[in-house]
This record gives sequence, structure tokens and C-alpha cells, in this order.
Amino acid sequence: MKLKEDWSAATYLRFEDERTRPAADLLARVPLEAASLAVDLGCGPGNSTALIARRFPEAKLVGVDSSPDMLRAAQKRVPDAAFVEADLADWSPDRTPDLVFANAALQWLPDHETLFPRLMRLVAPGGALAVQIPDNRSEPSHALMAEVARDGRWAGRIAHAGESRAEILSGEAYFDLLAPHADSVDVWRTTYLHPLDGAGAIASWLKATGLRPYLDPLDEEERKVFLALYVDRLRAFYPERGAGKVLLRFPRLFVVATRR
Ligand SMILES: C[S@@+](CC[C@H](N)C(=O)[O-])C[C@H]1O[C@@H](n2cnc3c(N)ncnc32)[C@H](O)[C@@H]1O
Repeated sequence: MKLKEDWSAATYLRFEDERTRPAADLLARVPLEAASLAVDLGCGPGNSTALIARRFPEAKLVGVDSSPDMLRAAQKRVPDAAFVEADLADWSPDRTPDLVFANAALQWLPDHETLFPRLMRLVAPGGALAVQIPDNRSEPSHALMAEVARDGRWAGRIAHAGESRAEILSGEAYFDLLAPHADSVDVWRTTYLHPLDGAGAIASWLKATGLRPYLDPLDEEERKVFLALYVDRLRAFYPERGAGKVLLRFPRLFVVATRR
């Protein structure tokens, strides 16, 4: 996804625990004893890379991301890993990795029908491809940003901003794409219910990710108005519960395949 503004590591890490939990859940299902080379695609600020380093201390680790700000943060966090600035759409490793890991990154890349088999073919025989993608486009959190985009004076610029994310396929479709190259394909879905401090916190969370294509084309004043309208609509769908918390429902799709 090419936007005017770079991703922000600091904004992304505001919800670090919640964002890293699916990466840990994904890694827990990777059935490898050891790895000599592991790559972390869309490594972001290195939170997922650090987990891989802990699990496979013997591995050479390479993190790949297109954001200079994310890569700076990642290099600080995991100094022993190598980090590469590249577009995942056409990046390929110098040698064959045992683990290709992508947590919360591939939703920004198009054409999963071609992408997933291509990534699988990068993996060494006996190695693993492990992917988690948010599957929240039909959730109110995302439907409402599209609604505000269509309703405002900015509609001409951002009514279709949600389309910069890939069409997520069904779990069955990912199984069918990977099975011809795999000894095993494990597909599952987890819906997290994250307790957050009110509707404003949902907007803060998504400002680092899903809201970026909507906010990027707007000027400072328009962003403020957009966010106020968005938070207002969120309140109806995410009512306050005990202790002032709202629950952000967040479905995610996981795929772990071992290479034949
Ligand atoms: C939501 S963050 C995920 C960070 C980390 N993997 C984690 O587990 O939390 C997504 C990352 O993917 C990167 N990204 C998005 N599109 C990309 C592309 N086409 N090529 C390389 N990196 C990309 C972004 O810069 C961002 O750092």
C-alpha cells in the first residue's frame, strides 16, 4: 500500500500487547524444531521478529518492510537480525528460508490467489509458511469508516479507500491454494474481544492501520472532523460495559502450512 505518510512505529505500538498476541498464537502452531533462516514479512516495529528470535535463537533472521520508520524501530529492538526495506509484492530471499512468517501484513497486498502459492514456493522442503490476516472488514469498526467516507464532502477522494486492502479469501480457499505444495495445512479463525477505554480508543487503535488510507488524503482539519464523526458512530455499536470498557471484536484468520 503506497500512502503519502509513512507508517508510525510509535502509533502502532500503542496497543502492542493486543497486536502481538496473534503473532504469538500463530508462532505457537509452527511445527518446526529449529530454523536456519527465518523471514518476517511486514515485520513492522520488530514485535513479531522478537518473538521469532526467542523461539529460534539459532536462526538467521531477516525482517522485511516497506516503512523506514518501522524498520528503524525493528533494528533497535532486534539488533542481531538483518532488516531490508522492500515491497513484499516482489521481494524474494537470497537463500531458501525454513520459516516464512507474516503477521498482520499480507492484507495490504493484492491477489492472494497468486501471492500465497508464490510465498509457499519460497519455503524450504520441511519448512513452514505462517500467516495471520485480520478479517475485520465486515465489522462495524471498518464498515463505519467506509460509511463516514461516503457521507462527507471528502467522498470524491476517499469513498473507495477501503479497497486498498486485499479481498480476504475464505479459509477453505487458502487451504486449496496451499495444499498442492504442502504436507499439512492448518487453517483457523480466532475472534479476539479486546477491552479498550471507550470508542475513542478504537479509533486510536485503527489510526495506525485500517484508518490510514482514509486519513492520508485529508488535511489536518478534515482529519479531526472525520475522526469525530467516526467515533460518534462507533459509540452505538460498541457500548460501554463494566469499568468504562468497550469490547473491540476482532476476527483474524490464521494459516500454517508445511512445505512438501
Ligand atoms: C500491521 S503491521 C504488522 C507488524 C508486525 N508484523 C506485527 O506482528 O505486529 C503491517 C506492516 O506491513 C508493512 N507493509 C504493508 N504493505 C507492505 C508492502 N507492500 N511491502 C512491505 N511491507 C508492507 C507495513 O509497513 C507495516 O509495518
